[in-house]
Amino acid sequence: MQDDPLALYHRSALPDAFRIILADYPRDGWAAHPHFGGLAAFWLDRHLNFRAMMTRMQDDSALRLDGQIAAQEYGQRLARLGQRFLGELVGHHQIEDTAYFPHLAQLEPRIARGFEVLDADHHTLHELIDTFAAGANALLRESNDTAQRELVAGFGGVLGRFERMLGQHLTDEEDLVLPVVLKHRVD
Ligand SMILES: [Fe+2]
Ligand SMILES: [Fe+2]
Repeated sequence: MQDDPLALYHRSALPDAFRIILADYPRDGWAAHPHFGGLAAFWLDRHLNFRAMMTRMQDDSALRLDGQIAAQEYGQRLARLGQRFLGELVGHHQIEDTAYFPHLAQLEPRIARGFEVLDADHHTLHELIDTFAAGANALLRESNDTAQRELVAGFGGVLGRFERMLGQHLTDEEDLVLPVVLKHRVD
């Protein structure tokens, strides 16, 4: 999948073939559309929540590296937030893959391949989840101040990569999903 130009590793936007419905439902008109609400608003809100959790974890890492929070406090925050983040993300992907994507692809077969690409993104993100969990667990086992801070610096790289790839996935998914939801008034 990594050699596929549509793979999450390489992509910086959806290809034009998947933007044909988006062309009639541009992003800046979504919130004012009469079918906005229900599922459309909920979907965007879930994504906002994932972005916010990622930002908070990065802010906490920066505070820890600056010595503004202690090892124990940082560990507690990461354990709480990291666990919630991973749990909610996996659940979110599951419902998209099993319920929403097949339904939306059926409504708009012209862009069905786009939903397969998003499904593949989830597998790529799950590999990152494993890296994230391993890094976080190593951090949580370390109580020595200096040693933990060194691990936090390394974990920052994992967080940065995760944020970049998740951000690309969320934006592309919104561009593919929201126009179909609005057009067909999916609830
Ligand atoms: Fe997704
Ligand atoms: Fe999503």
